[in-house]
Amino acid sequence: MSPQAVTVAYLASAVLFIVGIKGFAKPDTAKTGNALTILGMLIAVAVTGLVAFSATTEGLPFVAGTIAIGAVIGALLARSLPMTAMPELVGLLNSFGGLAAVFVGISSYLAPGHAYTTEAERNVHLVECWLGVAIGSLTFTGSVVAWAKLRGTLSGKPLLFPGRHLLNLALVGATIGLAWPFVGEASTDAGLTWILALTAITGVLGITLVLAIGGADMPVVISLLNSYSGWAGAMTGFVLQNDVLIVSGAIVGSSGIILTIVMCRGMNRSVLNVVFGGFGTEGGGPARKVEGEVRELDVAAVAAALSTAKEVVIVPGYGMAVARAQHPVKELVELVQAHGGRVRFAIHPVAGRLPGHMNVLLAEAGVPYDLVHEMETINTDFPKTDVVLVIGANDIVNPAAVDDPNSAIAGMPVLHVWESALTVVFKRSLGAGYAGVDNALFLHERTRMLFGDAKKTADALVAALRNV
Ligand code: TAP
Repeated sequence: MSPQAVTVAYLASAVLFIVGIKGFAKPDTAKTGNALTILGMLIAVAVTGLVAFSATTEGLPFVAGTIAIGAVIGALLARSLPMTAMPELVGLLNSFGGLAAVFVGISSYLAPGHAYTTEAERNVHLVECWLGVAIGSLTFTGSVVAWAKLRGTLSGKPLLFPGRHLLNLALVGATIGLAWPFVGEASTDAGLTWILALTAITGVLGITLVLAIGGADMPVVISLLNSYSGWAGAMTGFVLQNDVLIVSGAIVGSSGIILTIVMCRGMNRSVLNVVFGGFGTEGGGPARKVEGEVRELDVAAVAAALSTAKEVVIVPGYGMAVARAQHPVKELVELVQAHGGRVRFAIHPVAGRLPGHMNVLLAEAGVPYDLVHEMETINTDFPKTDVVLVIGANDIVNPAAVDDPNSAIAGMPVLHVWESALTVVFKRSLGAGYAGVDNALFLHERTRMLFGDAKKTADALVAALRNV
């Protein structure tokens, strides 16, 4: 392939990535967007393979075999994992990205025959290798710790050992400081020692940074590490002088940062507060005690309320994902509509465990997109709502965020479901949600609890509503 053809193909890949990602913004264009990004990646991989093996086919069977094995393992993993385990998988995949950057950085440094025309060109290449290895190693160990915390292999509690900020500062200092002797080193053998030392230093930094962050913040950390893996990829692109790797790395890096900020806003946290850890371990006064009477309603009574309701809002949460209740929920929508009610969904930005988690589940069940509303657009409509069905949600509907300044979730934007005429909560117990905070909504005078697994309850409600 001529260099011009390669450039055009890489440019086409980059455009496909950007147009595809733009498609993710709306549910009805998301599938096409996904197909476009896959096409972009296929072109990038195929062209890189053609360029690499056009001169010699030595190593081709090894590379093709490795890709085939990796593709099969990846496809099997992605197919077999439930949606709720997706942050775990993303965490693991980030670690591979980081490790790849470490290998590429070290091997590019050791590769013989670099024909530098100037000293500056040599220095730039060495700095690229240094940065790629540093970000890659930090991403690798940090992602492995995050993955282990999410799986429960490591405790979710933040490990706040004394002097950790000082240690981290020393590690960052060493990472920057050791770049000078490395770049100045004339012998490759001595340089290898420096770069291996760097791998160890930044690897320890990844571990100490992520160990200090509580399990509750892991999805945000995964998003941040995803961003790091993008920057490590972009650095690798510079090392290998591969334009499409630079572009795609930068896209992953910047979109990971944006996603991290969006998630932090949804939880009313600052990114720095998440990164430096220790959330929920210290704080002001005690949170308010949640006391009062729990009122229950049976399925028949809820069906009766829904059959006459004019305005119904459904708030899905993590419990709907766990129970896989989205299919009967879709049937509920159709039945309420058949009884003359208007049904809409209110989606909190951090409902569930993944950005867009609820949107994906509702789309999978075939809920029309125009019924699905973001928190900002629907939150003022609750006083005009007859019935709200809270399905497996907890933190995102907790009034403590609004009225208890000492609560761990104080200031987090929440859905004001308690302002409606009747709120029915589907869950198995009065237990707390992700943030571990008690919820006064369950004791509110206009709230009724419908205890049980959300899928079983929704199935029973569908059957009851059919007979009203
Ligand atoms: P949660 O606050 O985690 O509450 C989920 C509730 O679902 C639980 O209280 C549980 O109560 C119930 N549940 C579990 N299994 C159930 C089942 N089979 N049937 C019925 N109910 C079931 O979820 P949420 O309201 O969606 O809030 C999300 C939380 O995750 C927020 O704190 C958010 O900050 C955090 N978070 C989200 C993200 C993203 S990006 N979405 C990322 C990081 C953190 P029972 O055990 O009593 O049934």
